Amino acid sequence: MAGFEDILAQEVKDLGIENVETINRGVKISGSLADLYLLNYQSRLALRFLVPLNSFSAHNEDQLYRGVKHYDWSKVFDVTQTFSVDATTFHSRLDHSLYVALKSKDAIVDQFRDKMGKRPNVDTDDPDIKINIHLVGNKCTVSLDSSGKSLHIRGYKNKNGTAPLNEVLAAGMIKMSDWDQRTNLLDPMCGSGTLLTEAAMMLYKVPAGKFRTKFCFQQWSNFDKDLYSGIKKEADSKIITKVNNIIEGADKDRRCISDTRANLAGCGLSQMVKVKIEDFFKSKAPHDSGMIIINPPYDERIKLEDAKGFYQSIGDILKQNYEGYTAWILSGDLDSAKHIGLKPSRKIKLYNGQLECKFLKFELYSGSKKRINN
Ligand SMILES: C[S@@+](CC[C@H](N)C(=O)[O-])C[C@H]1O[C@@H](n2cnc3c(N)ncnc32)[C@H](O)[C@@H]1O
Repeated sequence: MAGFEDILAQEVKDLGIENVETINRGVKISGSLADLYLLNYQSRLALRFLVPLNSFSAHNEDQLYRGVKHYDWSKVFDVTQTFSVDATTFHSRLDHSLYVALKSKDAIVDQFRDKMGKRPNVDTDDPDIKINIHLVGNKCTVSLDSSGKSLHIRGYKNKNGTAPLNEVLAAGMIKMSDWDQRTNLLDPMCGSGTLLTEAAMMLYKVPAGKFRTKFCFQQWSNFDKDLYSGIKKEADSKIITKVNNIIEGADKDRRCISDTRANLAGCGLSQMVKVKIEDFFKSKAPHDSGMIIINPPYDERIKLEDAKGFYQSIGDILKQNYEGYTAWILSGDLDSAKHIGLKPSRKIKLYNGQLECKFLKFELYSGSKKRINN
């Protein structure tokens, strides 16, 4: 994800894999099959892990087709398995990614047909084998997608709510907030509870992939079931059930609270997070200090009658009732966010889907009330 390179590289190192460097929108890792299984099972901050197979120059569609067809695909999968191809292109003459994917798919199908008289079927929704074509200028890299469905699909989410955060974005926000996992954490506009669930999974050390039913590497011919079971067992053995701090959430909408409860239950953490129906504008700080992370409506998917007034009220409540807290607010409504009325001590550019957002940090120590009144 854009802006996640550094925290992802750190996460990979924290998982014990040293050989990692940041690249545009990702990290480059040298590691073993065991590392690949572990990363898929444990990473909270990656959307997918690609394994490069080969690369070649492709100035036009013909060179692309021949380059993809040149690789021996029977080494990778069987004609009875389903597959799909996706593509990304940057600064390339071949700038239509769907066409690049289609042409590459044709090359693979044609190779099987030429060699065996049979072709594998395409399944774009849930393929056994997923192939990624990455074109930067004329350089084409063909990779196997070891993850399959994007890793933000953790498998615990039963309810999505109106404007849910992507789980990887939520986990990244928590990492970027520098939450020390000892401080109490509050999301007072929790929606379907993505931030709460990701924070609770971190705190209780529940692996990000624990509730996923499938990764594409499990369909590869070299899949080592025992190795993968061992990696899962080792990660699961680190789950804890007791902590000294509290994660809590609220939303003014009853349905959101029931969605949050359902999602927490999906990963066995409903007892670990306190949630309640509450209007933030009538709320008081539950403790003397803590961290608040808020993902308020942006006046996009959830419309606001008076967006500027809404953001001003967030700032007022933080100043009046949450002294001693550190607050982080993610908003894609950059104009309204200026009305919070507090000076952010940090601003981080993030993307929620295609929408550019700011993740803003506010220190609410005593004196902030005075500062705004001056
Ligand atoms: C963008 S959504 C949050 C989505 C959430 N992060 C998720 O992943 O599902 C904003 C939420 O703020 C809630 N909200 C709006 N005004 C509120 C208020 N005054 N007090 C509490 N919650 C409020 C809405 O009900 C909505 O669920």
